Amino acid sequence: MVLNNIKACLFDAYGTLFDVHSAIDRHRVRIGRDAERVSALWRTKQLEYTWLRSLMGAYANFWQVTGEALDYALDTFGLHDAALREDLMRAYLNLDCYPEVKDTLAALKQNNMRIAVLSNGTRSMIGAATKAAGIEDLIDGIYTVDDVGVYKPHPKVYQLACERLHLPPDRISFHSANAWDAAGAAHFGLKAVWINRLSHTPERLPKGPAADLPDL
Ligand code: LAC
Repeated sequence: MVLNNIKACLFDAYGTLFDVHSAIDRHRVRIGRDAERVSALWRTKQLEYTWLRSLMGAYANFWQVTGEALDYALDTFGLHDAALREDLMRAYLNLDCYPEVKDTLAALKQNNMRIAVLSNGTRSMIGAATKAAGIEDLIDGIYTVDDVGVYKPHPKVYQLACERLHLPPDRISFHSANAWDAAGAAHFGLKAVWINRLSHTPERLPKGPAADLPDL
C-alpha cells in the first residue's frame, strides 16, 4: 500500500541498513563497562556535529566528523588508546547489516524496484559498508551529501536524490530509522517511511512520515 506509484526505494544507511553500534560491540572487551555509553555518545555527537557544521556553514566530510565525534566520546570516558580509535574507525567500514536487509532489497529488486542509498556517509564509506554486507549488487545508486556540502535534513540533500533518480519526490519512498531524517524527507516531499527499530516516540516536527514500520 505504501509503495503505490513508487518508482524507487531510497534508503538511509546508518541505523537503517547498518547497525552503528556493532563497531563498539566488536571491541567491547577493550572498552569495558562503559561500552554502551561510549557508543551512544559517539552516535549522538556524530549527528550533532553534522547539524552544527551545517548551521555554521563549516562542512567537513562524514569520515572526519565521525572521527571527531569518536574522539569526543573516547575522551569523555578517559579512553586514550590510539590503536582502539583506529580499530573503531575501521569497524565503521564493515558494520553489521540488519538481518532483514539483504532479503528485503532482493525482493524489491525482483519486483523491478530501483534501489538507492542516500546518506551522510562519503561514497567510499558507503561503498565499503555495502560491499562488506554483500548488498552492493542490489543497489543501483549511492547518493552522498558530500556532493552538496551540507548534511541531512537540509532539503538540498533530498533534492539530490530526485535529480539522480530523475523522479519527482512523490515517486520516491525514503526509508530511514532516524525519525528526524524521515521528517526531513517528508517535509521535502518524499514519501517517507520511518523504520522505528527501537520503538521510539514519534517526533514533534513539521512533517511526519507517511508510515512507520518496525523494520525494513
Ligand atoms: C546517514 C545518517 C543519518 O546514513 O545515519 O545519512
